[in-house]
Amino acid sequence: MPERGTKLPAGTDMAAKVGSFKELVGRVTHGDCFEVMKQIPDGAIDLVFADPPYNLQLQNELIRPNRTKVDAVDDEWDKFDSFMEYDAFSRAWLGECRRLLKPNGTIWVIGTYHNIYRLGKHLQDLGFWILNDVVWVKDNPMPNFRGVRFTNAHEILIWAVKDRRRKDYTFNYHEMKEQNKGKQMRSDWRFPLCTGGERLKDSNGKKLHSTQKPLALLERVINASTKEGDIVLDPFCGTGTTGVAAKLHGRRYILIDSEERYVKAARQRIAEECPSER
Ligand SMILES: C[S@@+](CC[C@H](N)C(=O)[O-])C[C@H]1O[C@@H](n2cnc3c(N)ncnc32)[C@H](O)[C@@H]1O
Repeated sequence: MPERGTKLPAGTDMAAKVGSFKELVGRVTHGDCFEVMKQIPDGAIDLVFADPPYNLQLQNELIRPNRTKVDAVDDEWDKFDSFMEYDAFSRAWLGECRRLLKPNGTIWVIGTYHNIYRLGKHLQDLGFWILNDVVWVKDNPMPNFRGVRFTNAHEILIWAVKDRRRKDYTFNYHEMKEQNKGKQMRSDWRFPLCTGGERLKDSNGKKLHSTQKPLALLERVINASTKEGDIVLDPFCGTGTTGVAAKLHGRRYILIDSEERYVKAARQRIAEECPSER
């Protein structure tokens, strides 16, 4: 199998790049993020939010005590042949995000114990400076059905600035404090998993996407680390949660996903949840 996503951007003509970049803003683009990101000029992005494949490496089906099958993350887009392949993929997309971030731009990367430590290493190796790691504590986590480990009840977000020397990155300290009843916002955030009406369903009523993130989580990220009008890039947008949060709060977005069904759903979701007069 050829290595995924290890191609680096070709020297594209800058004028053509700026033209196609403008067309990406405010759109959900269907494509491989490596190909699409090539169209973005250096230093054009204020914030990256990335929820990449987890590389869960599931070996067996998960069965509940009542013998029903757990709807786990077994999608093709999450499969990598080895840690080496996943590392090459991760380093390549993180490197490309670094190129297109402004010098004071920041990046959020979310993951679980399966991938977050590898992603943190790549961030540091590439020269990003970690500002915080935030724990998203899930109010309603999936139980450990086999009873062989603790319930895995959280995910980790790493927030990092492109250039360690830049102290002028956006952090809306006072807004965060206000949202936390007048106390400093802490690095442990409690939100329920995305369920019920918020969860997008397919035509059979099943979850459309195995890892749709709660809108409230993305609203916190966007409100904490961007200003109105900023451009937020999500190279692995899935159901478009980042786009909804960005648009609801007056930020611009560039969303990319390689799966057409998610792209269609994200476009429809943004149109429905964010009428343009808002
Ligand atoms: C963990 S999910 C993101 C879920 C998203 N945050 C949401 O709230 O719906 C990762 C996404 O990355 C997409 N993906 C995987 N490889 C990709 C690539 N090379 N380029 C663009 N998208 C990719 C998958 O289709 C999947 O939707």
